[in-house]
Amino acid sequence: MFQTRVTELLGIEYPVIQGGMLWLSRAEMAAAVSNAGGLGIISAATFPSRDELKAEIRKTKELTDRPFGVNIPFLPAIKPLDIPGFIDVMGEEGVEIAETAGRNPQEVLPRFKEHGIKVMHKVTAVRFARKVQEIGCDAVIVDGFECAGHPGEEDVSSLVLLPRAVDAVDIPIIAAGGFANGRGLVAALALGAEAVLMGTRFMVSREAPMHDRVKEYLTTLPETETTLVLRSLRNTARVIKNNIAAQVQEMEGRGAGIEELIPLVSGQREKDLMETGDMEKGLLHCGQVVGLIHDIPSVEEIIQGIMSEAKEVRERLCR
Ligand SMILES: Cc1cc2nc3c(=O)[nH]c(=O)nc-3n(C[C@H](O)[C@H](O)[C@H](O)COP(=O)(O)O)c2cc1C
Repeated sequence: MFQTRVTELLGIEYPVIQGGMLWLSRAEMAAAVSNAGGLGIISAATFPSRDELKAEIRKTKELTDRPFGVNIPFLPAIKPLDIPGFIDVMGEEGVEIAETAGRNPQEVLPRFKEHGIKVMHKVTAVRFARKVQEIGCDAVIVDGFECAGHPGEEDVSSLVLLPRAVDAVDIPIIAAGGFANGRGLVAALALGAEAVLMGTRFMVSREAPMHDRVKEYLTTLPETETTLVLRSLRNTARVIKNNIAAQVQEMEGRGAGIEELIPLVSGQREKDLMETGDMEKGLLHCGQVVGLIHDIPSVEEIIQGIMSEAKEVRERLCR
């Protein structure tokens, strides 16, 4: 039950993937996830030059001999990313898995394929999942409305979106948005997905390079403490409720444009929040699943906990 087309495709032991997270998905966390039998992913946008990405990939290779991936976002960025350069570095360094997100990656798909890189593209709607299959990606990550980061503009939660996507495509589906434990993993498999990808759960782990105060604060939040910003720009993001999020929403309400919003929503502010532990420094991406997270374990404990709970659930259901 826990060996799926996704574990086979990625060469991993357990159907558990750590989603790319700006500022957090660095060598230490990615390698720890891969060493624990899941798939760790480093975030290319955190290392935004070829040389920096290459150095981080090399560091990850020193920490694990298991497969890991690189996340490449095709999202509007203040500074455009060198996507062809990232792909070439992955190829040169032998990284075989890419997690892409945002716009359709069709234009650069041949470049990934030239290097033998498998591509899992993240989507938030069934029609995008069909497109991902049509252009030749290897798997599709389906991010439900409850997810951290960018849930899209259609507000369909995982419970409906996943089976809809499973019925629409033949390539393997990875469930994202709202998963944190073994019950979630079994539910995702029951809906037809073949692995889960988690962000928020791994953000609240010992290895996440983030101030302990932020992690501790997140363990206290109920599922109602996230909110949506940037809907007015059709670039919706789910973040924790704080004064900055409220200010952004107020500005959007009176029609503020991107230039006015950038100083508040810049990634640099999120980095400052993560480093200083000051929860009012900026926006912090976070999923509704935060309501299920009450501890700060190591990533190995997270993965082992998920797998042992999933086995218990399987036995309970069989009984
Ligand atoms: C702090 C944070 C930063 C994130 N940054 C990125 C990113 O740079 N690229 C990306 O594709 N997804 C990013 N995500 C989304 C995750 O990869 C994943 O899709 C999402 O967290 C899944 O939902 P969950 O949080 O309910 O597990 C981020 C999530 C978090 C929590």
